[in-house]
Amino acid sequence: MAVTRFLLNDRQISTAQPPGLLVLDYLRHHQRQPGTKEGCKEGDCGACTVLIGELDGEVVCYRPVTSCLMPIGELEGRHLVTIEGLNLPELTPVQQAIVDQGASQCGFCTPGIVVSLTGLLMAADARVDRTTVKQALSGHLCRCTGYRSLKVAGDVAAAAVGKRTGVEALVADGRLPAYFLDAPARLRQIHSDSAAEEGAAAAAVVNVADDGTHPAMIIAGGTDLYVQRGDDVPDAEVEVLNLASEMRQLMRGIERWDGHLRVGALTTFEEFGEHPEVQRWIPEIADYMFLIASWQIRNRATLGGNVINASPIGDMTVLLLALQSQLVLRRGDTDRTVPMGSFYRGYKVLDKAPDEILTNILIPDVDAQTRIGWEKVSKRKCLDIATVNCAGRIRVEDDRVVEAGLAVGGVAPIPLELTATRDHLLGQPIDRSTIEGALAVAQTEIAPISDVRGSADYKRLLTRQLMVALFTGMFPDQLSVVEFIGPVPGASAA
Ligand SMILES: Cc1cc2nc3c(=O)[nH]c(=O)nc-3n(C[C@H](O)[C@H](O)[C@H](O)COP(=O)(O)OP(=O)(O)OC[C@H]3O[C@@H](n4cnc5c(N)ncnc54)[C@H](O)[C@@H]3O)c2cc1C
Ligand code: FES
Ligand code: FES
Repeated sequence: MAVTRFLLNDRQISTAQPPGLLVLDYLRHHQRQPGTKEGCKEGDCGACTVLIGELDGEVVCYRPVTSCLMPIGELEGRHLVTIEGLNLPELTPVQQAIVDQGASQCGFCTPGIVVSLTGLLMAADARVDRTTVKQALSGHLCRCTGYRSLKVAGDVAAAAVGKRTGVEALVADGRLPAYFLDAPARLRQIHSDSAAEEGAAAAAVVNVADDGTHPAMIIAGGTDLYVQRGDDVPDAEVEVLNLASEMRQLMRGIERWDGHLRVGALTTFEEFGEHPEVQRWIPEIADYMFLIASWQIRNRATLGGNVINASPIGDMTVLLLALQSQLVLRRGDTDRTVPMGSFYRGYKVLDKAPDEILTNILIPDVDAQTRIGWEKVSKRKCLDIATVNCAGRIRVEDDRVVEAGLAVGGVAPIPLELTATRDHLLGQPIDRSTIEGALAVAQTEIAPISDVRGSADYKRLLTRQLMVALFTGMFPDQLSVVEFIGPVPGASAA
């Protein structure tokens, strides 16, 4: 059985536990470390938050994740930091601020919050202000205290640390245990031991049986899989894609390639949003990310997992669909490329064989004449899936639309590409009449149903309003929201 080697706080661990076992269960049941709390076990409350440190050149970068959705197999060669591993003889600045601001009552949420806020301060060039404090808190629920005191505690801790962020500065100032300084060398040693030893997890490739099926469950970030099949995964045979060195190499990274931006399917939401090329193409990407899941989930959720999960309201799926992306699917050594527009054939029915792995997403290059936008409405602002979302990519030349991609989620069994609406736009100027026409055509393409997220009529209304927001956001010089106030064609009078 494969052994997983990693650092747990200041200790090196080698464990032969099944790689699909949850980090949370491993900590609480096998390591007797109860500081990491079990709340919802679905990624929603943040009580189980830990930091995962990964070597990046000479340093280790730490990111918060929810341990209730992460397999221990992924800990190979990484540094797992729990609340116990942050403790010092005195309270840390974050702990002290929480005490001083009365930001803890029953205390169940507190360890996770301390971990996330500390994680924010551990990046050397951290931007620490009210916005990033809110982002760090966005994946946490507190049932007792109220969020005002927590936000103030975050501000106070940030002010106490000032510009002295980053592991080295925090250790030097006595705000983080000194063992963190040894972590890079110790992780490098684990990596070289693993590489040297036959059978180490790092040498694995994705297995395919003779009949073409995968013998195991495929895990990318695990944020959908553990929620949907959490009882089955820990005991099942699993393939953690990040551990299969061949696949990992093929499926990670973002680069310009052959007229496209190649985005590896294992790219996490955060990696996508932080990439300079993506930020150049989509300047508002950071604002969009704030409305998607939480910091902890975005550090694990992959673009590939979002696409394959095929939720009709997948946020990245709708964006990638509007960007006219293509999907590269691999079976054995053979690749094929499928336009995303024809990938979804029905509810969770894909143009994909069971043994095909999505390795890359190809987004056609964007030039200065192209505008990109994305909109979402959900019941609450952070950490909620969309009721309706939509995205667009429009290229205008000589005042006419020459290329268009539009997609909307939550109004059909699949993430829906609006092809008729796109055709309506082509060749037209961007003005009120063109967009009113497009809004009307869009209503004929969607088929929302009433469910817990809202009635069919409400989703029709949202589709219209989000598309107005989309177009006025992409073309603020030509269009303004007030021009589009009026009834929704196609909605019933009730
Ligand atoms: C609390 C919470 C909040 C969330 N909020 C949002 C949100 O706001 N917006 C949103 O869109 N989603 C949200 N999600 C859903 C989820 O995070 C995303 O769908 C995510 O992109 C899934 O990616 P993953 O890597 O975790 O997939 P996994 O769970 O690892 O995999 C999902 C499925 O795809 C398969 N798979 C994964 N990668 C590949 C591949 N490369 N090739 C073949 N098969 C593959 C797996 O076998 C599995 O069946 C949320 C989830 C949680 C738990
Ligand atoms: S236990 Fe709630 S997010 Fe993990
Ligand atoms: S203090 Fe009780 S849940 Fe936050």
